[in-house]
Amino acid sequence: MSYPDKVTIKEVGPRDGLQNEKEILDAKNKIEWINLLSQSGLSYIEITSFVHPKWIPQLSDAKKVAKEISRKPGVTYAALVPNMHGLEAALEANVDEVSVFMSASESHNLKNINKSIGDTFPVLEKVVQTAKKEHKMVRGYVSTVFGCPYEGRVAIDQVLKVCDSLFDMGISDISLGDTIGVANPRQVEEMLNILLKRYEASLLALHFHDTRGMALANIIKSLDYGITTFDSSIGGLGGCPYAPGASGNVATDDLVHMLEKMGIETGIDLDKLLKAASYIQETLKKPLQSHLMSMYNQTIT
Ligand code: HMG
Ligand code: MG
Repeated sequence: MSYPDKVTIKEVGPRDGLQNEKEILDAKNKIEWINLLSQSGLSYIEITSFVHPKWIPQLSDAKKVAKEISRKPGVTYAALVPNMHGLEAALEANVDEVSVFMSASESHNLKNINKSIGDTFPVLEKVVQTAKKEHKMVRGYVSTVFGCPYEGRVAIDQVLKVCDSLFDMGISDISLGDTIGVANPRQVEEMLNILLKRYEASLLALHFHDTRGMALANIIKSLDYGITTFDSSIGGLGGCPYAPGASGNVATDDLVHMLEKMGIETGIDLDKLLKAASYIQETLKKPLQSHLMSMYNQTIT
């Protein structure tokens, strides 16, 4: 078994994490938190999303947050955009990179972005073309790759069809979402055996939610297949409000800890990361669920 020397971690807490919190934080707190995350050595932070505020009220201050954070050189500050309306706002706030998103299953796509898969393609194509004209990289998320809360198992052909269409539009890489945390290592193996015949490992990232505690096992399996980019959320925050049962992403702190113990470089300073985790835990007034933060909380109580 050979592991890579280095892994890139994309922090999605300020977006995937906060979109699933009942409490709506002040922009000031989000900005302070993102600034702390920037100091931890993370090279990529998804700071917000430019979606409809009625759909995700937690992130309705996207423009303010994007404009007022301190941008650390070398860090990519990215945001999710569902359509041209969102892209225009993201460009105005000058985010470094945007991510488009859709699902491999019809029902989740409809519940999440109010369109069929077929009707989503032209919307995203225009977003990708316009963003690229503005010299922005565009990442693509595909949700419900390993299972859909409404349809159950999703056909691999459906995943391939959506990935092919996104790559044809000109996106730079795809993040494969286990939206409701149902994937297991055998399923990851089956999926990657097929996907890697078609796409380079460097073009794929894995985005595991940890609903059933299988995310780190799935990451080990993905490493085995040469995947070197993973999305995670500090403290294990996260979830999609339009996917019933979806809970937090794999925790960035647990992931960094595991990789560093395995001798795999992440470039992230765990102490500084835990400072950022403590900040958001105090601000949200609830203990974070990651293993490392649970240990930390036991030592201070
Ligand atoms: P819609 O209602 O179909 O939008 O929503 P529309 O195009 O029909 O427009 C209706 C009104 O909304 C119009 O205003 C538009 O201007 C406005 P009106 O003319 O009526 O005054 N509008 C907007 N306003 C602000 N920002 C916008 C925007 N777009 C239109 N961007 C829409 C369609 C996509 C906007 C809506 O369904 C939406 O915002 N959905 C987002 C849901 C979401 O954020 N889900 C969570 C993120 S995905 C996720 O978590 C999964 C992921 O983590 C990977 C994984 O885990 O699998 C990425
Ligand atoms: Mg997610």
